[in-house]
Amino acid sequence: MGNEEVVEKAKEHFGKLVEEQLKRVDKMKAGDAWVDYSNLDRIVIGVVGGDGIGPYICKHAENVLRFLLKDEIASGKVELRQIDGLTIENRVKVMKAIPDDVLAKIKECHVVLKGPTTTPKKGDPWPNIESANVAMRRELDLFANVRPVKVPEDGIDWMFFRENTEGSYILGSKGVNVTDDLAFDFCVATSQGSERILRLAFEHAKKNGIKKVSVVTKANVVKTTDGKFLSIAEKVAKDYPGISWDDWFIDIMTAKLIDPYRRKDFKVIVLPNLYGDILTDEAAQIQGGVGTAGSANIGMRYSMFEAIHGSAPRMVDEGRGQYADPSSIIKGAAMLLNHIGEVEKAERLEMALDVCCQFEKRIKMTGRSDGATGSEFAAYLMETLQRKDLEQIWRSFQKA
Ligand code: IPM
Ligand code: MG
Repeated sequence: MGNEEVVEKAKEHFGKLVEEQLKRVDKMKAGDAWVDYSNLDRIVIGVVGGDGIGPYICKHAENVLRFLLKDEIASGKVELRQIDGLTIENRVKVMKAIPDDVLAKIKECHVVLKGPTTTPKKGDPWPNIESANVAMRRELDLFANVRPVKVPEDGIDWMFFRENTEGSYILGSKGVNVTDDLAFDFCVATSQGSERILRLAFEHAKKNGIKKVSVVTKANVVKTTDGKFLSIAEKVAKDYPGISWDDWFIDIMTAKLIDPYRRKDFKVIVLPNLYGDILTDEAAQIQGGVGTAGSANIGMRYSMFEAIHGSAPRMVDEGRGQYADPSSIIKGAAMLLNHIGEVEKAERLEMALDVCCQFEKRIKMTGRSDGATGSEFAAYLMETLQRKDLEQIWRSFQKA
């Protein structure tokens, strides 16, 4: 192929992407309304096990929800609905990130609790299909990835708002090898997409009496898309006069998270997709490991709650699935409860998690046979949840 032809083909490819994205902008402009859970007669929670350690840990989170919601389930106010089929084997069979029938079932729920799913990469035994996570976030328009990280003894209380439907992810499977030697990927930012995540972060700060929001980009280098994110931040911030904001570049922010003198100052951190992916793993590690942080994927119509980590197929291959730590997905379940309006139950679950994972730590998980199993952890957590003096115990640790 001559250069001219190569350029024409690339233009055609790019043209299609632009058309797709313009349609998405129109959809965002048309707007959607937030679901009001207090107005629903019945809330349907889909439970999707996923791959690898997913079904192991998801089962424990489901049991916790069944326990906390037993009255609501008995009265029919809440339904927990098992959705099978979001496995790498099934996805490969139909060569889709999410098989159509699974997606249709998910769309019949209001919220979803999801175990991790395998994201193939080149060289894996699987074809290199799109990540189920990325597809779900796009298909359900789950634009906000909300990830809290806390280390009370170090004064750390961070809330990350990661943009979840744009950036380097949205066209991550639509890059182009223009020639054998030249590859392009695309990064996308829209005014609407940036504004809605930034607004959510500022709203969170306002509601919780937090006086500062930190915006993280690399706008000095990635001038167009990150530049847009930052300029929209400036605009949104004007609507929140009581809240100050600062902007950081992702490289120095990565360093500051491990600076014991500065990191306490960060509270609400809002950032584009890929930076959010990386920074939240770092933050989770500071909290005690990626097994310990929950993750909410919030959209106006749907929401999905999950662990922050992946499906760890190696653990299952090595026969260690039962040692996987379920606390990350159980934190996701606590966020789910909060999201559907079960605020007190969510608080109680969070207290029990704090007591088991941060304060009392009666059992230790290592992911191996020298540590506890997920079932042992789940039993410990359930017992803690049922302690009458849970709140006092939690408070006594807060003071300590
Ligand atoms: C996460 C995960 C996903 C992501 C993967 C599984 C596609 O790392 O939720 O952070 O990159 O967003
Ligand atoms: Mg990640």
